[in-house]
Amino acid sequence: MARAIGDAHSLRIAPSMLSADFGHLADAVSVVEGVSDWLHIDVMDGHFVPNVTIGPPVVASLRPYSQLFFDCHLMMSDPGTYLAPFAKSGADLVSMHVEVGDSKALLKEAHDLSLLGGLAVNPETPIDSVFPYLDQVEMILVMSVHPGFAGQSFIPEVVGKVRDLVAELDRRGLSNKVSIEIDGGIGPKVVEEVVSAGARVLVAGSAIFSTPDPKGAALGLRELATQYL
Ligand code: DX5
Ligand code: ZN
Repeated sequence: MARAIGDAHSLRIAPSMLSADFGHLADAVSVVEGVSDWLHIDVMDGHFVPNVTIGPPVVASLRPYSQLFFDCHLMMSDPGTYLAPFAKSGADLVSMHVEVGDSKALLKEAHDLSLLGGLAVNPETPIDSVFPYLDQVEMILVMSVHPGFAGQSFIPEVVGKVRDLVAELDRRGLSNKVSIEIDGGIGPKVVEEVVSAGARVLVAGSAIFSTPDPKGAALGLRELATQYL
């Protein structure tokens, strides 16, 4: 059973496992455990994106080693086939890409499996593509790089999409219910911009795990972000 997401306005630091050492995953996660809120888990199928990463068996293997909220970002052309295995693996939330279509049915299926449901939107996809589903999601994931790889540069044009999403959520009285996550190229240089725009779940791969001190980096991101809430 997935855990509740809590206050949609709360700041969450979500280290992205994609940049961790895959040979020592549980150890890498334990380093950031006390200073993070969520663990962002990038699932890539080699079809929706040109990379292959991990799936439900790895999530299930990690589950006993972490109390973090497991935030699974499904970069998959056919996420529906894998929702039941993700639910079983101990995932808390699954985000599916709006670009693959069938969003209404996929969200319903996730909820039926007691998963929280999000929709992810690529940098070139207009933000209004998720508007029809806002009363059905717990989170919108705004991609700020092209999905597929860690370590890319932040695309500043997506900040306007975060602002437009905030406005639409406010207009519809949904801002307390839907969290806004931003994913890709997030680090100290862009924290002010994205938090001021309204993003509250900050995914960071390289800016945490590719530093000599991942724990300090996660703490630093939180301290910095807190100034702009
Ligand atoms: C990219 C992934 C991101 C990625 C972030 O496809 O969705 O979660 O791991 O890594 P950084 O923070 O290095 O851009
Ligand atoms: Zn991601």
